[in-house]
Amino acid sequence: MIICKTVDSLHKVLGTPVYNKATIGFVPTMGALHQGHLSLVDLSKKHCSLTVCSIFVNPTQFNDPKDFAKYPITIEQDVLLLERNQCDILFLPSVNEMYPEGTAPKEYYDLGYLENLLEGSFRPGHFQGVCQVVHRLLDIVRPNSVFIGQKDYQQCMVIKKLVELIGMTETDIVIGGILREPSGLAMSSRNMRLNDEDKAKATAIYQTLKFIEQHIQHGPLLPLLSIAREKISEAGFEKIDYISICDASTLQPIETWDGREKLVALVAAFLHGVRLIDNQLLN
Ligand code: PAF
Repeated sequence: MIICKTVDSLHKVLGTPVYNKATIGFVPTMGALHQGHLSLVDLSKKHCSLTVCSIFVNPTQFNDPKDFAKYPITIEQDVLLLERNQCDILFLPSVNEMYPEGTAPKEYYDLGYLENLLEGSFRPGHFQGVCQVVHRLLDIVRPNSVFIGQKDYQQCMVIKKLVELIGMTETDIVIGGILREPSGLAMSSRNMRLNDEDKAKATAIYQTLKFIEQHIQHGPLLPLLSIAREKISEAGFEKIDYISICDASTLQPIETWDGREKLVALVAAFLHGVRLIDNQLLN
């Protein structure tokens, strides 16, 4: 695997004749890689002739400075995992390389209602930061396809909207399914901050999503959501940002279901200060 720390060195590698006709698959990450990321690398390798992965912990998407400070960094292990999974190129830029003119936003991305619901309402500014960094990465890498994970369901919708807004509609956005531990816990870099006991408690999120999937019926959904909320609190989560059943294609919350919309249930909750998110398509 070739590691490029600067935009120039990446462009030099991509400009070499051997990669001239390559179709570029891009897997943007913030490192602390797990099997979920590696499944995106595999997906990229199936679709494209050249796979570029980036590791950059983007400061502009953290609305909570403590979350940024505690974000796990495991570069050496990440490099080994990417090599083992035959990633072709790792782009590993510094903050300066990514934002040579500083981190202040240069552009406002009009994400419409997507910006203000669920993650957007609990993490103000988060999606502007995601758009800022993904826009910059797309400009640098110019991929044919981008591979992102369904665990960040709303982020997938935001990135699809972003490519529309910046006129990169020829870039294919491919969404990889959620990878789970045998217990059902969705794989996440933030799980590294949980001890074994907390990991066992954290499975309540998946169990609750499955409970919703099994018990969903036409009519008002609020009673089911309050049982779900109780289950997560009882498991020891100190704070639930949201637990919501939404239209799977628009993310608009559904309060009464007529059986027609495709639905997704989404959760964000804190366990011992670690914010975990997960989701499940319901029908
Ligand atoms: O999902 C992530 O890890 C990040 O939000 C992304 C897409 C790499 C942008 O920093």
